[in-house]
Amino acid sequence: MRLSSTGRLSLYARAGANALGFLGRRTYPPAIIWVLTQRCFYRCVHCDSWKDERPIDGDALLAIAEKIAAAPTKMVALSGGEPFMVKRLPAIVATLKRAKKIVSINTNGHLLDEHARWLVAERVDHVQISIDGHTAALHDGIRGARGSLERILRGIDVVKAARVGGPPRISVCTVLMKENAAHLAELVDRFTTIADAVEIQPLHDSLGLLATAGAAAFAPEDRSLVEEQLATVMARHPAFANDYYRGFSRFLFEPDSMPHHAVDHCLPMIFNTLTIREDGACRICRYPLGASIHDRSIADVWNSPARWALYRRLARDGCGQPCWIRCHTHPSARPGTILRKLVATLG
Ligand SMILES: C[S@@+](CC[C@H](N)C(=O)[O-])C[C@H]1O[C@@H](n2cnc3c(N)ncnc32)[C@H](O)[C@@H]1O
Ligand code: SF4
Ligand code: SF4
Repeated sequence: MRLSSTGRLSLYARAGANALGFLGRRTYPPAIIWVLTQRCFYRCVHCDSWKDERPIDGDALLAIAEKIAAAPTKMVALSGGEPFMVKRLPAIVATLKRAKKIVSINTNGHLLDEHARWLVAERVDHVQISIDGHTAALHDGIRGARGSLERILRGIDVVKAARVGGPPRISVCTVLMKENAAHLAELVDRFTTIADAVEIQPLHDSLGLLATAGAAAFAPEDRSLVEEQLATVMARHPAFANDYYRGFSRFLFEPDSMPHHAVDHCLPMIFNTLTIREDGACRICRYPLGASIHDRSIADVWNSPARWALYRRLARDGCGQPCWIRCHTHPSARPGTILRKLVATLG
């Protein structure tokens, strides 16, 4: 997410303090990605979250929110499944905002309209909405939800009318998959005029991170179409002309070449971000730390030897099943390369 300059400064300060972990100091995660639930009422072809039917324990989630609020963590990204299925979401967000966290919410946008007012009142910093097609027919088909795009656009209008120049920032996130590849440029053209930003991530089928329910796999002959569409997007929208988007083709069509390259891009993010899963399990991206937030403090989980062991392993061997996700990936590999060398030397 793009941050205000104060938010960015404050996050960088915490990320800098986190580097004191190299010297054996106890630190806190500057950022947390929190998957509140895997449950969802959509049936997206590219996602299998919706197969999860475990009940949502709102009180347990609120207790985690209080733990996070008490920690010096600066940024909290709420994701799912669908976060708006959590009835206590307003209370969770209020707890985090009272503690002055930067809060973002990833949503399918279906319920945005009815939640817009409290999102604006709580000054939620960022709402990221998924849109996967340039037309309602394509988007609704991929998302397995008739009327979805129309509802999302209504919700965006309501948030924009209510926020009067303040937060939340609204971004659209698209997954590039075979089903929409031919229309990627049209999608970006359309939604850059509606949202504050559009972001894309490639389809993943990766254990413990993002798994598809039935999206068609790309074939080698799709490569030229994908590259053509990305080139058009970059030519029309210079914000996309960076290494992250240039890396899509390699990620989708030459995954075996990624293990070290991906780590160079993701290391600054995973060095600073704890993931809390819907059952309380703590991870660094997909990798379990063997601890639950229900019975350990955030500091204990974060300062565990398992985290440093993971960084050392990644710095040495690369990542066996790499991802290429917006929030994990920095536009340049340089900070990650430096960090990898540092971890290899000091870690
Ligand atoms: C898992 S969803 C959770 C939040 C919300 N339900 C939504 O759809 O935005 C977060 C993001 O991951 C994307 N996603 C889901 N499955 C994916 C996959 N297999 N590969 C890449 N992205 C995926 C979604 O489209 C969405 O943009
Ligand atoms: S991508 Fe989001 S909306 Fe679609 S099924 Fe997965 S969690 Fe639900
Ligand atoms: S590439 Fe990085 S963020 Fe992605 S799964 Fe591997 S270690 Fe995690």
